[in-house]
Amino acid sequence: MNDQTTPAETSRAPVLPDAQTVTSVRHWTDRLFSFRVTRPRSLRFRSGEFVMIGLLNDNGKPILRAYSIASPAWDDELEFYSIKVPDGPLTSRLQHIRPGDQIILRPKPVGTLVHDALLPGKRVWFFATGTGIAPFASLVRDPETYEKFDQVILTHTCREVADLEYGRQLVEGLKDDPLIGEFVGDKLSYYPTTTREDSPKTGRITDLLQDGTVFADLGLKGLDPAVDRAMICGSLAFNKDMQEILEAAGLREGANSDPGEYVVEKAFVG
Ligand code: A2P
Repeated sequence: MNDQTTPAETSRAPVLPDAQTVTSVRHWTDRLFSFRVTRPRSLRFRSGEFVMIGLLNDNGKPILRAYSIASPAWDDELEFYSIKVPDGPLTSRLQHIRPGDQIILRPKPVGTLVHDALLPGKRVWFFATGTGIAPFASLVRDPETYEKFDQVILTHTCREVADLEYGRQLVEGLKDDPLIGEFVGDKLSYYPTTTREDSPKTGRITDLLQDGTVFADLGLKGLDPAVDRAMICGSLAFNKDMQEILEAAGLREGANSDPGEYVVEKAFVG
């Protein structure tokens, strides 16, 4: 096989397994950044899925973590949204990547936050905290989301206003997007909340659901298992609290092999 290797490839060091090249990096806060990488030509994925990505450590061993793909399936590149953990084995290094650098990307997408795991419905809720918005950044850019549902509600709860910015800009750009704008139309409602800084809507989404604020704000009666579908992505505690709220409303958890009224996945941390 090596006789097929071009001179450019042999001179690149170190040669990473499953290497992809970073095309852009954006730092949103001192704790959050997003980046885009080249997409392996053979990689097919469903919006909402995750892959393993990483870097080599000092001993040349790969450090890999699960990352939701934040870009839609039709995009030429892959986008990821990450927290920076100062002593995190991967993110302490990953936060320093620059365009032209290489990362490892194992091209085996998996995950439950996919349309196939939900039964048909009228309205879909995407409930996110922190970097848990990543799979929904993919799904809100996927025409299938708007073909399958009359209404799409993206909620995002973060500590501070600056933590919402990635999602805010994403949503703001959707309506005018030449590829997806006409699908989105007026179907998408964006519901950002903060918990540790004042903003137009403060409080945990869980509390705002339980006291009825969300429904009053959106002009809805409540959750109805015949109509509402949901996807949850955040911390373990958030996922658990959200599941209790959805189960109490009569929604059942689904999976790829057994679609239901809601699905849940833990956001990447560390
Ligand atoms: P809070 O500030 O009240 O903890 P983190 O940065 O810790 O991952 O949290 C991201 C956001 O998720 C914060 O706004 C946080 O609110 C909120 N959050 C954390 N745990 C829960 C939970 N169990 N239910 C609802 N929201 C939560």
